[in-house]
Amino acid sequence: MNTLSKACWIGAAIYASLGMIFGIVMSATGDHSLAPAHGHLNLLGWASLALYGAFYSIFPGAADGWLARAQVLLAHLGVIVLTPGIVFALRGEGEGLAKAGSVIILLSMLLFLLVALMQSRRTPEAA
Ligand code: HEM
Ligand code: HEM
Repeated sequence: MNTLSKACWIGAAIYASLGMIFGIVMSATGDHSLAPAHGHLNLLGWASLALYGAFYSIFPGAADGWLARAQVLLAHLGVIVLTPGIVFALRGEGEGLAKAGSVIILLSMLLFLLVALMQSRRTPEAA
């Protein structure tokens, strides 16, 4: 497994564990008011990062270079900023962190678009 895939999958499993604990606490307390924070921790932290990890495992060549490293770094940073950002926004304690997290997540996806486009030019159609 290349370093970038490892960084995606190990991070994804950590976010999933935290997201599941979050879900279990919500279920146990009956307080679902922070459900969007739980949902996005799981969807951006677990699902999206696991997909990035799969991509970089299937195409290890795409994991080389600063663009791919920046893409994964921003994906992690986005989860770490957006999740508490959604909590603050839902509690009416400010939307700054949520806005910053959203832009970071979008930047990460735009970099992924570039990485995927570059890879599609390198990979023969039959591969
Ligand atoms: C131990 C595992 C989990 C538990 C106990 C759990 C629990 C919950 C609970 C109690 C809610 C609130 C439901 C409501 O108010 O209608 C919820 C919402 C949600 N969960 Fe989970 N969940 C778990 C795992 C996951 C995973 C793995 C994902 C995604 C990959 C996920 C995605 C979502 C989404 C998208 C919502 C809706 C958020 C929203 O309303 O904006 N959950 N979950
Ligand atoms: C920049 C990234 C994102 C932002 C800013 C964002 C924002 C939002 C907002 C504001 C809501 C409504 C929450 C509410 O009703 O209180 C929402 C809901 C939701 N989002 Fe996201 N989202 C993002 C990325 C994603 C991604 C990548 C996924 C899936 C992989 C996703 C899946 C969902 C789902 C399933 C819901 C709940 C829909 C529902 O139950 O009505 N979001 N999102």
